[in-house]
Amino acid sequence: MEQRAIAVYRTRTRELQEFNVPVNDRTTIIDALEYIRLNEDPDLMFRQSCHHGACGTCGMAVNGTFVLACTARVTEFADEGPVRVEPLPTMEQIGDLAYDPSDFMREFPDGLTYHRQSEVNPDAETPDGVEQYTRLESCIECGLCVTACPVEESWMGPAALAAIHRQIEKQPEREEELLDLAADPRGAAICTRDFACTRSCPTGVDPGRHIFMLKKKLKKRAKAQQQG
Ligand code: SF4
Ligand code: FES
Repeated sequence: MEQRAIAVYRTRTRELQEFNVPVNDRTTIIDALEYIRLNEDPDLMFRQSCHHGACGTCGMAVNGTFVLACTARVTEFADEGPVRVEPLPTMEQIGDLAYDPSDFMREFPDGLTYHRQSEVNPDAETPDGVEQYTRLESCIECGLCVTACPVEESWMGPAALAAIHRQIEKQPEREEELLDLAADPRGAAICTRDFACTRSCPTGVDPGRHIFMLKKKLKKRAKAQQQG
């Protein structure tokens, strides 16, 4: 198997540490990290769970691009020098590549639902107890959009705002209440329409479009209030 140099950020030294890892064209960044942990350094810290782009725990910066480490393949990254694997810079670091997502998660307002009507069979009954499963929509809460966003001040961020707009689409009768959330001074108005969030999202949520729609609705509401 071909050997590739993988340079991994280490909290201990605050530097990249280089390892040689056997790879083929299917080896993912997570596979490479697991190889390192099994064969080179059992102390290497990183987060992962599902290994298939569904749980949102494995976001990392690889050669400066924000990706899910379990779906990004080592061979996608240029064969010039080591592949650099670093933690997401906007998250609170716990150790090496692992981060605490609590601050990011806190931005999601209470009262959002996490399941939706089937597009294939809209008459399908919702199974009892499904509310407890919180990941049945396309956002996997990975935080890549928030990390990619160029806005530097503290704000709600693209994932939470996209969630608010998705909720309006699902429950139009709650529009007023949900628009109030988006109208927060830390809300939609802060967006600079860079669309880095949309480009970085691995599951096609398109947060930039949702924020754009929120702004449009807020503008329409403000106009109606002025006229009324
Ligand atoms: S909107 Fe996309 S990038 Fe942002 S947290 Fe959800 S899945 Fe991740
Ligand atoms: S390990 Fe679940 S998304 Fe990567």
